[in-house]
Amino acid sequence: MSSKGPVGQLVKLRGLLAAARPVDNRPAGWQPAPQIHKPVLFPKTVKHPSAHHGAPGGVKIADVGVPMKLGIDFGTTRIVAAAADRGNYPLVGFESSDGQAREWFPPLVAIRGNERRFGWSAWAVQADREWTVLRSLKRLLKRAGLRTPLELNGRTIPVMELATGLLTVFRQQLRQASTLSLDRGEALEVMVGVPANANSNQRFLTAEAFRAAGFHVMGMLNEPSAASVEFGHRQRAQHKGQPRRSLLVYDLGGGTFDASLVEMEDDTHTVVASAGVSDLGGDDFDQILAKLALETAGRTDERESLSDAESFRLLEECRERKESLNPNTRRIVADLDRVREGWGEVSIAVAPYYELCRPLVEGTVEVVQELLAGNPDQSIETLYVTGGGSELPAVARVLKETFGKVVRRSAYMRSATAIGLAIGADARSDYVLRDRFARYFGVWREADHGRAATFDLLFPRGLELPRRGAPPLRVVRSYRPVHNIGHFRYVEAAGIGEDGQPSGDLTLWDDIQFPFDPALRGADDLTLVDVRRKGEGAGSEVEEEYSCDASGIVKVTIWNRSAAYRREYTLGRWASSAPRAAEAIANKHGWRPRHR
Ligand SMILES: Nc1ncnc2c1ncn2[C@@H]1O[C@H](COP(=O)(O)OP(=O)(O)OP(=O)(O)O)[C@@H](O)[C@H]1O
Ligand SMILES: [Mg+2]
Repeated sequence: MSSKGPVGQLVKLRGLLAAARPVDNRPAGWQPAPQIHKPVLFPKTVKHPSAHHGAPGGVKIADVGVPMKLGIDFGTTRIVAAAADRGNYPLVGFESSDGQAREWFPPLVAIRGNERRFGWSAWAVQADREWTVLRSLKRLLKRAGLRTPLELNGRTIPVMELATGLLTVFRQQLRQASTLSLDRGEALEVMVGVPANANSNQRFLTAEAFRAAGFHVMGMLNEPSAASVEFGHRQRAQHKGQPRRSLLVYDLGGGTFDASLVEMEDDTHTVVASAGVSDLGGDDFDQILAKLALETAGRTDERESLSDAESFRLLEECRERKESLNPNTRRIVADLDRVREGWGEVSIAVAPYYELCRPLVEGTVEVVQELLAGNPDQSIETLYVTGGGSELPAVARVLKETFGKVVRRSAYMRSATAIGLAIGADARSDYVLRDRFARYFGVWREADHGRAATFDLLFPRGLELPRRGAPPLRVVRSYRPVHNIGHFRYVEAAGIGEDGQPSGDLTLWDDIQFPFDPALRGADDLTLVDVRRKGEGAGSEVEEEYSCDASGIVKVTIWNRSAAYRREYTLGRWASSAPRAAEAIANKHGWRPRHR
């Protein structure tokens, strides 16, 4: 980044963006409007030639005193922002560390001793051995709690501190080195995306990190639901007053696959059902290509000897080669010299590469088919393909083979979600989105005097979420406990088996202990206290209250009504689960964790 300070940076950035003219945000056939004025970048009053979603180039134009509203897609590999600008939804451009204009911001954190770097500045040191780079913060949030520590190089850093640090730098860059033109002190109101299958804790932590970084969080939308809004908005004029239509959003990103079945009628979008795979995305295609490249070069055995920096360069090379593929490409030439000098180039046939990727794509197809089979009364008019991972030609091929003519690639593969979020943030857009709780949430309770556990389902999957601004959903359980301490084990699950037990992808939260006995109110650690029976009817009256808001975030309050005290809990994993999560992610990809 330029050392000229914010103003210098912005001037430089504006120049760059003028030269680079982003193309991603324009529909096919877009033609520039005739220039009437001398080209002035980022004028505050001129409306850009705009297609459906907005203007290329710079953005502003919030009315004076009105906060800037943004949609932010916090992706695994990219953060993409779009602004709500008087009926247009242009993407925000940033200057990357190599001086390029980009319509995304890297969600990277680099750590060296007590030093931290975030975003583009972390990007710049990725290949540097001295820095440890965390690449999957979004995935870590899935498993973390508010205070979950990440152990790195013998140090303990709370995951939330890193997330907040990253988003703080992101907010500064939005203000100082982006195509947004903001007034000093102008508030940034954001609608944030989360994967449809995100658990309640991940939603809460994501919102908290944005808040702690200084954003005003208006709400959260599921990423594929936001993409459906972008789709509906583009088709708005054409379909006004037409009967209800069904859309299936297929969103394959860098690290998550989400699918949502959405009914659209005018400006009302109702999510019928969602499904997904939380650890599948374009990153996996890079891994497959890396493995194949080493195999083809006869260097499989040397994989273990690669340093972190070399592994990183191998994956970068593969990502770049993969992103340059088109449907006519027959061979991929990967430059392994970039990984280690003297390794030369390797030429890989595309067909076997696609064959290796095929099972992953077929995995996504199965999810879509299950979703459709579960909703046989829906006839899909369009299968709307979004997410950068879907740009791999093999994905379109498998989808076309399976679903035929209804498949439609988004013109905004990597930005549809952010644009939909910006539309959702825009009070003028009149969109109504009815979304649903995407998982089963419940608590294990002891039964039969502690000899058995039963699962008490509190919020079922598919439950319609309240509209933004409406009161949260509430579920209450009241009883007189027979023990001195309540022990609650919460779980979120993708499914419920025939036996009524949680099944599929499970998230178990750390246990909560609540002092039923008022004498234990002051006890710091209830795990050290013996659990005793007090006898039937002897206990106080206890109430558990569960609430779920428009963003799908569950909060737990437990009251002792008789003695008038209560505790509020946010679910999460408070113990040392994040290092394990980091390790699981590293293992999945065959990396050695970069923290030595
Ligand atoms: N032209 C391309 N061909 C193939 N893959 C591409 C192309 N462009 C981008 N990708 C891949 O798309 C992925 C990023 O997609 P996207 O930006 O939608 O993900 P994300 O929003 O960061 O992640 P997620 O939604 O999973 O959290 C990366 O794996 C990237 O390599
Ligand atoms: Mg995404």
